[in-house]
Amino acid sequence: MTKATPRNAGGVLAITGGGSGVGEGLARYAASIGMAVAIADIDLVAAESVASDIRAEGGNALAVQVDVRDLSQLEGFADRVYTELGPVSLLINNAGVEQFGLLWDTPEDNWQRLIDINITGVFNGIKAFVPRMSASHEKTAIWNLSSMGGVSAAARQAPYIMSKHAVLALTECLKLDVETAGLDITVAAVLPGAVASNIFANAGGVKDGDVAAGEAERAAMLRVREQAMSPIEAARRVFEQAANGDFYLLTQPQLIGAAMNGRAEQLRTRSAPQLFSGEFHVPAE
Ligand SMILES: NC(=O)c1ccc[n+]([C@@H]2O[C@H](COP(=O)([O-])OP(=O)(O)OC[C@H]3O[C@@H](n4cnc5c(N)ncnc54)[C@H](O)[C@@H]3O)[C@@H](O)[C@H]2O)c1
Repeated sequence: MTKATPRNAGGVLAITGGGSGVGEGLARYAASIGMAVAIADIDLVAAESVASDIRAEGGNALAVQVDVRDLSQLEGFADRVYTELGPVSLLINNAGVEQFGLLWDTPEDNWQRLIDINITGVFNGIKAFVPRMSASHEKTAIWNLSSMGGVSAAARQAPYIMSKHAVLALTECLKLDVETAGLDITVAAVLPGAVASNIFANAGGVKDGDVAAGEAERAAMLRVREQAMSPIEAARRVFEQAANGDFYLLTQPQLIGAAMNGRAEQLRTRSAPQLFSGEFHVPAE
């Protein structure tokens, strides 16, 4: 299955969706601390641009065109990473897409695409990499990208929010499966709050029905983007919390911590979700 290559002294990161936004920040930060970086992205031009920057700064980086919806493409990516960079020490299942609009107006294709990328894409990453990570007998880690949305409810983003709850649950269960199997893999969930990226500009919308509701949500989220943290600072915080052994890795601990407390309180008191009608503000922290 995999050919042994010399172990990279700083470790090897394999990341999906590393051509933009959060994933780009994680890839660049990993390279800055001496990791070799393998970037899988459906957008090869974007992935190659990040990889060539890393190489220009003296790092070791590989860009591969991968659609995370296709397990065979992730298997091929894993083979290339193990062959060309060596055993993976950190897998980050990051690729994800957004969708705006009322749930019943969501085009079926957009619904399926979001599930295939945001949920099945994470499953495919785990299917492709865990057997190789386990066979390498190295200490390894897997981080999956959930979101502050993984502990919240929001109108006009139901498919996305649902997918981030799913990734959080998948990641919590993965941690337990890894322990059950006795594997030396540290599992963590990344919950970004607001990080500058292209996710809202590239999000799906609505063709029929209440088009304005979806576009109003897109406009609101693009205003949030203006207050968002830089991807490199977000990555620095995530790596720091992982080094402390945290399971929940938060880009904005106060903001997301408040959402986690709100979720816990909602469940404790068995309260129904409340509509948020104000303007979302990202506090500096
Ligand atoms: N930006 C934020 O504030 C924020 C907040 C919470 C969670 N997240 C999560 O962070 C992750 C990254 O999002 P982002 O905001 O950086 O978005 P982004 O759109 O800037 O980057 C996403 C990357 O994924 C790639 N991608 C999309 N579909 C793909 C596919 N099928 N196969 C492979 N690659 C694919 C894109 O080409 C792009 O490079 C997502 O999982 C998202 O849900 C982001």
